[in-house]
Amino acid sequence: MSDLIAQLEQLQVEAQAALMAAQTTPETETWYTDFLGRKGRLTAMLRGLGQLSKEERPLVGKRANEIKEALEAALAARQEAIAADEMQRTLAAEGIDVTLPGRRPQVGKLHPTNQAMREMVEILKQMGFQVFDSPEVETDAYNFELLNFPPDHPAREMQDTFFTTTPDVILRTHTSPGQLHAMRQYAPEPIRVILPGKCYRNEDVTARSEMMFYQIEGLAIGRNITFSDLKGTLLNFANQMYGEGRKIRFRKSYFPFTEPSVEFDVDCILCGGAGCRICKHTGWLEILGAGMVHPIVLKNGGYDPAVFSGFAFGMGIERQAMLKRGVDDIRLFYSNDVRFLARV
Ligand code: FA5
Repeated sequence: MSDLIAQLEQLQVEAQAALMAAQTTPETETWYTDFLGRKGRLTAMLRGLGQLSKEERPLVGKRANEIKEALEAALAARQEAIAADEMQRTLAAEGIDVTLPGRRPQVGKLHPTNQAMREMVEILKQMGFQVFDSPEVETDAYNFELLNFPPDHPAREMQDTFFTTTPDVILRTHTSPGQLHAMRQYAPEPIRVILPGKCYRNEDVTARSEMMFYQIEGLAIGRNITFSDLKGTLLNFANQMYGEGRKIRFRKSYFPFTEPSVEFDVDCILCGGAGCRICKHTGWLEILGAGMVHPIVLKNGGYDPAVFSGFAFGMGIERQAMLKRGVDDIRLFYSNDVRFLARV
């Protein structure tokens, strides 16, 4: 009997040594097959127990089980140590320092132009304006002629144009051509539409001007629409966008497609009219161009100017976002600097 126990203990010593020599997970698996598996050496010895006498069997059996359990525990410990070791080597090879604090995931948000556009569209929608989509690529007719810019008229130079290789096809310089698309779709029904979208001008890029920018056009046409409707609409817009109690003013201006034409200012949201850097010490901020729709444009759109009248306005989105968020350079909007995009 003692012989068998000695053999078992000898096997245990051998197995322990072999286990310590295993350096990889597959090597530990081979070790398991050799010693503890179905055809392993310990299993073979345990089968021999059947030949022992009744008295010997429990004693030897107990010892054999202890050895088996000890070897199983040793295997688990060895596999764990090897796994940790392998992880350490991978991390070292990949240069990862697990003691560094985790990085906060970056969460995206709407682009500042989109934030401002949605805010403005929401305000105008509440006043009954519906969004109307119109194309960014236009013909000369829609961008200029139908809006009462005569050919070769100097007013065209107010908006330097990007041409395409197709004759007469241009990138729109403003959202106003959308007025004609909307009118021609709905005439002679009254309409109240807004047209948000991109515009392109072949201009020098400066802190205030981009080659590509966004505008929102507004257009209302009906039977008794007057300048006071335009004034009420814009005052309401200014109060919602920049806070209640805004002072507003109109300055006379010129656009071929409106008569009379105006520019619309609100009192400076930063200094309240006292004068500061943002309002260039005038106390006023220019928000948009507007006017009563010119009779020629009404006619081009399919409305009888003797029966119908209307107002229109066109506002820059980035310039208003700049005012509201204190951004002093329009070039930041499309330079893809994530520090700016995260802040604004
Ligand atoms: C127009 O584009 C007229 N279509 C507006 C209009 C519509 C008048 C309907 C009457 C009736 P203007 O060129 O002023 O007008 O441009 C309107 C606004 O677009 C400006 O106040 C400004 O906010 C913005 N804008 C114009 N050019 C640029 C530019 N290069 N970069 C950024 N914003 C610009």
